[in-house]
Amino acid sequence: MEEELIGIKNAALSFILEAKDLESLEETKLQFLGRSGKLTLAIKEITKVPVEKRKEIGILANEVKNTIEEALKRQEKILSQKKKSALFEKIDVTNPGIKPPLGHLHLVTQAIEEISEIFERIGFERVRYPEVDWDYYAFSALNFPQNHPARDEWETFFVKSYEDPKMGKIVLIPHTSSGQVREMERAKAGQKEISIKMLNIAKCYRRQSDVSHTPMFHQFEGLVIGKDISIVHLKGTLDYFVESYFGKDRKSRIRPYHFQFTEPSFEVDVTCGVCLGKGCKLCKAGWLELGGAGMVHPNVLKAGGIDSKKYTGFAFGWGVERVLMMKQGLEIDDLRILYSNDLRFLKQF
Ligand code: DAH
Repeated sequence: MEEELIGIKNAALSFILEAKDLESLEETKLQFLGRSGKLTLAIKEITKVPVEKRKEIGILANEVKNTIEEALKRQEKILSQKKKSALFEKIDVTNPGIKPPLGHLHLVTQAIEEISEIFERIGFERVRYPEVDWDYYAFSALNFPQNHPARDEWETFFVKSYEDPKMGKIVLIPHTSSGQVREMERAKAGQKEISIKMLNIAKCYRRQSDVSHTPMFHQFEGLVIGKDISIVHLKGTLDYFVESYFGKDRKSRIRPYHFQFTEPSFEVDVTCGVCLGKGCKLCKAGWLELGGAGMVHPNVLKAGGIDSKKYTGFAFGWGVERVLMMKQGLEIDDLRILYSNDLRFLKQF
């Protein structure tokens, strides 16, 4: 039995030393220490050894096992080191790496940044007001009488959970004009003289989804209030924006229109970027409609607690997606593609 154990030890050690890789080392391990490995089977035989010798043989068997295990560990370390350095030899560290794809801001976000910068340059202050707001700020304070059909016209999303006797229902704001009276309230608080130059950019929501409308879209709303503010300031601001955003070759015009919260009210047009006003397939008569504008209605100033005899103002509200498309001269067949996150589309910008 002693000889057998010594034989096993020697055989195991020479196999271990000869192992060329981790796989053959594992095989050797199984061959000697596995469930039916040579040493495992020999150890089982110890019960057959006469009692007086059993202890001695037991100790020997244990030593053999420890020696084999240690040798296995040592060789394993050496072989895995070898494997690692072989791998490094194969890697050419001077090879240029794989560049991860670099994204960019969404084109609506890019447009918002550009619009903000243009207005900041002439002193407008960017503000944000709730996108879930009272009916009061979205409609009533803007001179919409109760039960005015405009609440339907605007195709508003109403939040049904609660209705306040004074503020009315809760809505997802259908336009950024809802920030006007909130801004007046803010400007009034603790100040003697009113001076407002607000730019409110926000998400707006309407029940609409077709090729030229998405249920969520963005508007930017300008509001200027001070002493002696007139239509001249409105037209000047409009010209400045059109020139800065669309380019010097684009012109703007205002047309009489009706909005509940401005008097007089206008619709604003910009010459088409494709034909520059001559008339083409995209614009038909040379002009594209930008959005609404007007002189703030005295009732709206009143709702904001501002004396309409002392102060006047103008406002405008235009769509971000709209100006974006008008700038690019984009003929997007379906506006909803802006929000479908299709990289084939987004990568082009
Ligand atoms: N809120 C209007 C809309 O969504 C646009 C608008 C019209 C805004 C006239 C204004 C304005 O500030 O003066 O259709």
